[in-house]
Amino acid sequence: MKSKKTNFLKIITSAKEMQRISLSIRNKGKNKISVVPTMGALHEGHLSLIKRSIKESSVTIVTIFINPKQFNDKKDLINYPSTIQSDIKKLRSIGVKYLFAPNIKDIYPKDYKTRVIVDDLKNHLCGLSRPGHFDGVTSVVLKIFNITLPDFAVFGEKDLQQLIIIRQMVKDLNLPIKIISHPIVRENDGLAMSSRNTRLSNYGRKISPFIYKGLVLAKEEYKRNKNARKIISNLKKYYKRNNVKQVDYIEIINPKDMSYPKEATRGTYILVAVKIGKIRLIDNLKF
Ligand code: PAJ
Repeated sequence: MKSKKTNFLKIITSAKEMQRISLSIRNKGKNKISVVPTMGALHEGHLSLIKRSIKESSVTIVTIFINPKQFNDKKDLINYPSTIQSDIKKLRSIGVKYLFAPNIKDIYPKDYKTRVIVDDLKNHLCGLSRPGHFDGVTSVVLKIFNITLPDFAVFGEKDLQQLIIIRQMVKDLNLPIKIISHPIVRENDGLAMSSRNTRLSNYGRKISPFIYKGLVLAKEEYKRNKNARKIISNLKKYYKRNNVKQVDYIEIINPKDMSYPKEATRGTYILVAVKIGKIRLIDNLKF
């Protein structure tokens, strides 16, 4: 059996069947399909993207697929949380109608060969410490688009570089899809929600809110001082003082082209990636 009907949630595991369903929804005319691609272990951040999608469109398709091709670190892939049963419950509770949760072999059959590469933009920030990561993301996202045939797709600003790269891919390849971005959803103490947060130790969880607190302080500083290097070096010091010691990068970027301005201005972003223990976390804030 390729799919099963559960309450109102239809779970589809075959790409062919998903594409057939999407085609038939599109052929009915007025419907607008929106897709929310995820790797599962759903939290409130994901759910707010999905609620936004439900608001913006008549049919929402959520996808859950832990994409091996975007993990440059095998251990990270092995340890990535998979909580499909509770994910299904959460999707049902907010009234999602379609979940596409394919098998690896369905997405990458033995003779799979194609990669989608967005040049230049991938060679910054997370792309530097995670070689091949964004090629894996763009390849799977284009595949998900071709399978679900959406009018809209919703992505979180939490993964800002991913969002910028996907927008570029959509523009470069003339995809008839509107990309909707959604703000970062945070825990009460400011930590950006992430599927990886569950893997933090007690101590790691305790110091993790400093990531966002530091960004807020950097934004405060930006009001007095626009020098990007100075803001970055002060944030680095703040993290060190608060035991966030493994900083992968802190950068201020212009989101249009991912260039690094000398002066921070309104609309530029400060982005960070840090490791707490073995867990790599990212966050960002707009100036
Ligand atoms: P994943 O990390 O599961 O994230 C799925 C979507 O949820 C992404 O668009 C991400 O930016 C968004 N998201 C995650 N945490 C968020 C938060 N705290 N607030 C708002 N949005 C949040 O990103 C991926 O999966 C994958 O790379 C994917 C695009 C699915 C391709 O495999």
